[in-house]
Amino acid sequence: MKLGADPEVIVYFDNQFVPLRDARVNILTHALHYGTGVFEGIRAYWDDGEQELFLLRPLEHYQRWKKNCGILRIGVPPAAETLCDITVELIQRNKFRSDLYIRPLAYKSAERIGLVPDDQNALAIIPIPFGEYLPSQQGLHVGVASWCRIEDNAIPARGKICGAYVNSVLAAEDARLNGFDEAIFLNARGHVAEGVTHNIFMVQNGRLITPPGTEDILAGITRDTITELARRELNLEVVERPIGRSELYACDELFFTGTAVGIAPIIRVDHRPVGAAVVGQITSELRRLYGEVSLGHLAAYRKWLLPVYRAANVTA
Ligand SMILES: Cc1ncc(COP(=O)(O)O)c(C=O)c1O
Repeated sequence: MKLGADPEVIVYFDNQFVPLRDARVNILTHALHYGTGVFEGIRAYWDDGEQELFLLRPLEHYQRWKKNCGILRIGVPPAAETLCDITVELIQRNKFRSDLYIRPLAYKSAERIGLVPDDQNALAIIPIPFGEYLPSQQGLHVGVASWCRIEDNAIPARGKICGAYVNSVLAAEDARLNGFDEAIFLNARGHVAEGVTHNIFMVQNGRLITPPGTEDILAGITRDTITELARRELNLEVVERPIGRSELYACDELFFTGTAVGIAPIIRVDHRPVGAAVVGQITSELRRLYGEVSLGHLAAYRKWLLPVYRAANVTA
């Protein structure tokens, strides 16, 4: 799905609420040349019944963003709670009443040639109406990328660093040119890492298996949500361990998790069926639970939601 935004959408830029058309950067901006930005992705889901928009785990996203900005030594002065408040106000100003994707971005903003950065930073928060990211309902056909996942000692995948996404762009484009819906990365050690902007889970004999944070992945917030739901709601064992490539061809179920994609079932890998090449039972159940949690239908997980129109203070 390609997502442009209406130039009249109000964004947060340079400590102000301004229309997108006025949120401009100079052609010499450091981040544009050297990829020195850090971004986040946050979802908000509209619930028709409650006439409410729910931000999903915004506090965790902003906490992660601030930590990741630290990797590039980009200071984000507002507290995570304040960033949640700004996001609520931003959505209220736009009067959005549909599913959204919110893109926080912090970057090195000096306007000059020269690699070594200084302390000039800028930040923006951009809300975009956003439906389904990948048409994954029936299951995806994915291919193992010939591009290797970036290594922690090169550019840390956990950092959500703008420049690092060249790695994902190369793999995602090749996957489509090769007739696949999406790509799976192996890391430099040949282990399964993740998708281009999603984590991966394998189901084997009723257990969920996912690569640990040391396998050059971004340890996703959706990955954490699914781990908790699988353990608490489905009583399943969730194991973090390295996954070999050929395990992808022999597992029972496979799916991606991520803020943009939600839970996306994979039914074929490299032209080989996953299980019976239909969306598996555990994947379906987790998808259903995730949908319910996102709309506040499960009381135990309301703690993860910040309602936009009723929000007086941050309670996430
Ligand atoms: C490389 C990568 N892996 C995994 C994820 C999934 O993380 P999350 O569930 O926090 O969105 C993302 C998206 O943020 C990502 O960019």
